[in-house]
Formats: sequence, C-alpha cells, structure tokens
Amino acid sequence: MKALILAGGKGTRLRPLSCTRPKLLFPILNKPLLDWTLESLAEIGISEVTLAVKHMAEAFMQRYGKSKYGMKISYSREKKPMRTGGAIKYAEELIGHKEPFLVLNGDIFTKIDYTKLLKKHKETNAVAIIALYRVEDPSRYGTVKLTEESRVTQFAEKAPPGQAPSNLINAGIYVLDPKIFDHIPGGRPVSIEHEIFPKLAKEGKFFGHEFKEIWMDIGKSRDYLKANRILLDTEEKKRHLGKDANIDEKVKFNDPVMVDAEVKIGQKSRVGPHAIIGRDVVLGREVLLENSVVFPGAILSDFASVTGAVIGEGATIGKGAKISEGCIIGDYVTIRDNITLSRDVTVCPSKEVTESVPESTRII
Ligand code: GTP
Repeated sequence: MKALILAGGKGTRLRPLSCTRPKLLFPILNKPLLDWTLESLAEIGISEVTLAVKHMAEAFMQRYGKSKYGMKISYSREKKPMRTGGAIKYAEELIGHKEPFLVLNGDIFTKIDYTKLLKKHKETNAVAIIALYRVEDPSRYGTVKLTEESRVTQFAEKAPPGQAPSNLINAGIYVLDPKIFDHIPGGRPVSIEHEIFPKLAKEGKFFGHEFKEIWMDIGKSRDYLKANRILLDTEEKKRHLGKDANIDEKVKFNDPVMVDAEVKIGQKSRVGPHAIIGRDVVLGREVLLENSVVFPGAILSDFASVTGAVIGEGATIGKGAKISEGCIIGDYVTIRDNITLSRDVTVCPSKEVTESVPESTRII
C-alpha cells in the first residue's frame, strides 16, 4: 500500500521557527516529526511514501532522498501551493488508480492503530474514511456528524463555538479510494476540508473511524511544546542522557529530562522538569532550564534562565539573561547578557537582542 504525506504548508503559526525549517522537521523528543511518522508507516508495511511538497521542498529531498526505513520515497513537487485537496489531486499520477491509499497531514503526531482504520475501509468500501479523535473543544477543527453505522452525514470545518455537530474532530488521517480523484477538480488549489468532505458527506460516500490512541497536532507553538512534554511523560525512562554528554557532577536534574548526544552542562545548573535538549547544546554554570525545548547547537550562558520556551538552533542566550514562558527564539539569534524577555516574545532568526523586552511582541 502507498501513503501520501501532505508536507507542503508554510506553517505560519509556528513562526519564527518555521522560517528556517519546515514544520514536519521540528524535533519531537529530539527526532524530526516526519521520522516518527515514517517509522510508524514502515511498521505497518507501507511500501512507498509520497511526500507532497512545496515550501522548502529541498529540505525534505536532501534529508530523505529516495528511500528511508525500507520504504521508497517519492516527491510530488507542486509549482504553487495546491492546499490539502489540490495536493492529493496533484499526486494522482504517482499514487495511481490500483488500490486505496493512506493520506496524512504531516503536522500530526499519532500512535493510531492504522490496521483498524484500513479494516474499516475494507468493510465499508467508502470513497473516503476519516480518522476521528474526540476532544473537548472542537472549534479549531473540522467536525463530523456520524450515524450508528459510522457514515459521516455532515462535515463542518471550524464551526463557531457551540455549533459543531459533535466533538469528533478530523485527525488529518484518511484512507482514500482512487475514486477520490474524480471528486477533486484539477489545476487549482483545493481545500479538502472546505470543498470536498462536505460534499462527500452529503452524497453518503464518507465514513468515519474513531480512535483513542495518542494524537496531537503541532500547528501552534504551544501545541508543539505541549506535544514534547506529554510524550516525555509517556517515556518509561525518566532521564535520557545521550552519548558523550558531558555533565558536571553538581548538575541537579528534575526528571523527566531528555539530553541528546554531545551536550555539555556546567556546574550547579538546574535542568527539568520537561527539559528537552538537542545535540551539541552547551549550558554554562548555574543555568536554569525547565519546561523548554532547546534545538541543536544552542548556547545557554552562565546564570541564564529559560522557562516554558523554545530556543532555536545555534541561538546564544547571554549570561544572566532571562527567557520567560511562551518565548520563541529563532535560529541563530543572540540575546545579549542580562537581557530579560517577558512572556510570549518571539524573535526572528539571526536577530540580536540588545535591550530587555517588557511586553509580548515579535522582534523581526
Ligand atoms: P499554517 O500556515 O500555520 O496554517 O500551517 P500550514 O500551512 O501547514 O497549514 P495547515 O496546518 O492547514 O496544513 C495541514 C497539513 O497540510 C500540513 O501537514 C501542511 O504541510 C499540509 N499543507 C497545507 N497546505 C499545503 C499545500 O499547499 N501543499 C501541500 N503539499 N501540503 C500542504
């Protein structure tokens, strides 16, 4: 069976970190999200994965090449952003018409049991089966109305609060029959959520499958941090220390923490809970790091404090600098010594911050 991963979005809600890397290559517990997805597809015997790419297409092609995890990798490279439905239509030739195929939004992390979803497709022979996840507040998502036989009779995209047909949301995972290609107009951008699913629901060709395994989307910065935190909590091992990590004996860990290879941590630093530290990161002495993700190669100088933030690749946080909850520091940013960034400050890649920032703002 083939799988198509939608990987071409701009990820504007994850700026400034998505200015320099596609959303699907954001590290989740120090491994790119797309690697988690590909591994799970390899496990169920998928033979070929097509990546539907546009924004920063080269980053995918360089990293994944022609095969990965024993699967063939091909690329459907759009000339302009075709959006979710248009991207599926654009990949028609690569996918072919032989058999049903799996489609995934690339910006989700899930442990769904794909075999149950595929079984449901066999039983119903639907044009489309959609995986559904129950949430408390469905207002950010597409929601469905389901009959007892799991037929979708209504699909509503981002219904206003209180008006969603149910709390079952579109998890961004579908099994599609090649007949779907006849339902999507070619040659222009098409949103599958706005244009195609509501019609399929009316025509009775659309079925749903509720699942309860882990599912998270990482569309926004807060979601991204939360996904890392929740997954770190699910790890059996509470303290991961990577190969050749150089940790002073006076470092105080507050588990859970995940430290990648070649990381250096200086004396009396306090690390955790929920500190996820990428490869080659350096923490000086008496640094405080909690509830944060630090991308590879960043430097947190002596006495710096980072709480509830994401620190981009190769960024430098100066001595005694204080980075507060909700801050997102872009790749290769420099925060000078003793600077304080208040809550929710975001800093674009390669900027240098020389004055403290007292209120939530974006530094571009
Ligand atoms: P935002 O700009 O933050 O909304 O993110 P996004 O551009 O990724 O859009 P969205 O979250 O709605 O996308 C859902 C999934 O579809 C993601 O995996 C995107 O990479 C993918 N996607 C969105 N638009 C396109 C497109 O035009 N082409 C392709 N190939 N994939 C897309």
